[in-house]
Amino acid sequence: MEVIMKLVDVKKYFPAGAGILGFGRRYVRAVDGVSLDIYGGEVLALVGESGSGKSTLGKIVAGLLKPDGGRVFYRGEDLFKILDRKDVRHKIQAVFQNPDSSLNPRHTIFDTLSEAIRAKNPKLEGSQLLGETVRLLKLMGLSEDHLIKYPGELSGGEKQRVAIARALAVEPEILVADEIVAAIDVSVRAHILNLLMDLKEMYKLTLMFITHDMGLVWAIADRIAIMYMGKIVEESPVEETFKDPLHPYTKMLLTSSPSARLVGAYVDEKFKARGEPPSPIDPPKGCKFVTRCPIATKECWTQEPPLKHVSANRRPACLKI
Ligand SMILES: Nc1ncnc2c1ncn2[C@@H]1O[C@H](COP(=O)(O)OP(=O)(O)O)[C@@H](O)[C@H]1O
Ligand SMILES: [Mg+2]
Repeated sequence: MEVIMKLVDVKKYFPAGAGILGFGRRYVRAVDGVSLDIYGGEVLALVGESGSGKSTLGKIVAGLLKPDGGRVFYRGEDLFKILDRKDVRHKIQAVFQNPDSSLNPRHTIFDTLSEAIRAKNPKLEGSQLLGETVRLLKLMGLSEDHLIKYPGELSGGEKQRVAIARALAVEPEILVADEIVAAIDVSVRAHILNLLMDLKEMYKLTLMFITHDMGLVWAIADRIAIMYMGKIVEESPVEETFKDPLHPYTKMLLTSSPSARLVGAYVDEKFKARGEPPSPIDPPKGCKFVTRCPIATKECWTQEPPLKHVSANRRPACLKI
């Protein structure tokens, strides 16, 4: 498979105010040295607890946030050097958890979608533009009746479908979907996810699917990258990960996920969740997971484990593997 996005040692640190007594600046290492390949046509799930850096990494992949270190390559070119090219910007789209923050409340659904369609096809006007807008709405299971409505008149699920439609209007190649069903009523989640999978086939999309829900990963992803405190701790195909997780943190996530249990994933009570992640401003020196790891030994406190290939497509970052 072709690598269409390549991240090399990507870092993003956010200032976290002055240090003790004002000496030295302190930083939250939201993304702390991530190297990752994204393959054309795959659904890559990015998973981890809240605060692990998933959204920050997603925004970097979407070209919305410039990293402080490392490089991001889109089809071999430095993404942040080619972003001013409209065709490149259109190729990478993002949809976020809360459609209210991304849809303009004063624009009708027609305004929102037709504007996106015209960004890609400036010549479309009148009945052709209307036709294309309706086609997009129908793809998302919405109807013409929605055209003249404002976001405030729609349900959460409908708004999120409009947000997805708008992202697709410019015919992207990569879609970063960041917790897109987390705020949606459970009863319509499956519908939106099914739609997304149909659209993925139709548009030959590559999906970076960000979630904290292992059940969703199982339902839609091909590959999984697990994030902990700004780092990727395991990268593997989904099926193998669910049956035979390698990293202790992956084991913890699966053991403590009711939805993973439902699909018969690995469970080991030894790895049930304990403690909270340490402060991101003052992370452990060695392995970031060391404070919660049931199998950590002395060296884990001092040595940072690199991701290493244990087979062609499995990479855990753990000194004990
Ligand atoms: N704009 C920002 N300014 C300061 N800190 C931020 C900002 N965005 C994210 N962070 C911090 O970076 C860390 C990672 O955040 P985020 O990427 O949102 O994680 P996730 O999506 O996994 O919950 C958190 O500690 C968060 O508080
Ligand atoms: Mg997030």
